[in-house]
Amino acid sequence: MGKVIVIASGKGGTGKSVFVTNLGAVLALRGYSVALIDMDMGVRNLDLYLGLENNVVYDVSDAVSGVCRIKQSLIRDKRFDNLYLMPSPPHRDDGNITPLHMQVLCDKLKASFDYVLIDSPSGIDDGFVLAAAGADSAVLVTVPEYAALRDADMADSALAQLGITERGYVVNKVIGEVMSAGLAPTVSEINEMIKSELYGFIQYDENIMIAANNGVPIVCKSDSYITENFNNIADRIIK
Ligand SMILES: Nc1ncnc2c1ncn2[C@@H]1O[C@H](COP(=O)(O)OP(=O)(O)OP(=O)(O)O)[C@@H](O)[C@H]1O
Ligand SMILES: [Mg+2]
Repeated sequence: MGKVIVIASGKGGTGKSVFVTNLGAVLALRGYSVALIDMDMGVRNLDLYLGLENNVVYDVSDAVSGVCRIKQSLIRDKRFDNLYLMPSPPHRDDGNITPLHMQVLCDKLKASFDYVLIDSPSGIDDGFVLAAAGADSAVLVTVPEYAALRDADMADSALAQLGITERGYVVNKVIGEVMSAGLAPTVSEINEMIKSELYGFIQYDENIMIAANNGVPIVCKSDSYITENFNNIADRIIK
């Protein structure tokens, strides 16, 4: 039986979709079967970050409403036979997908995949609640800015209220010099602001953005410090 992990943030643009793409690739590289579900309805990104945008036919809405079979809505990645993407609908949430739909979808996917990673929209509104509905655990992706940390804590509390007890967070876009110069929240401040477990840090690096632009998970480059970061974080998430 697999595990469903929702990736959320509160604040937008913190790096959730990049994180889902690369955690998915790291887990696939380790031999796990992985499904990524894009729940950022109307503004999907995962298909582009994986370079699969030309392969999209069906989406989550089609899968839950029976327009297609679940299998038909899953696109196999070009690089990994064991990594699949279920794209988000191209339109905004129109109420067609309910939390119960998501629970049923996640239960079915757990029977076939070791890990199901759900890319949540930012905020803690309906889209976030839908994204979290079938999840067993959660990872918050935040950045070292007070506004993002406060929003991450709000999302963390919302996830707790939804009954998700296993929660942790990743601090993305870290610039070491800025942090050590005291120009960004310190590690202990961050720890105080978010109650759940710290899974790790990812540096700010333009190569992450360039890889996403090219539709390639950056962890495909095995000998980089970024890949090491992702592997360390993956170890803590799947411990
Ligand atoms: N560690 C990093 N270093 C540099 N750029 C990054 C890093 N992580 C993400 N980015 C860039 O930041 C931008 C936002 O990333 P991403 O789309 O993953 O955020 P998001 O949280 O999913 O956004 P949204 O809330 O809109 O869904 C992208 O341009 C991405 O390439
Ligand atoms: Mg996103």
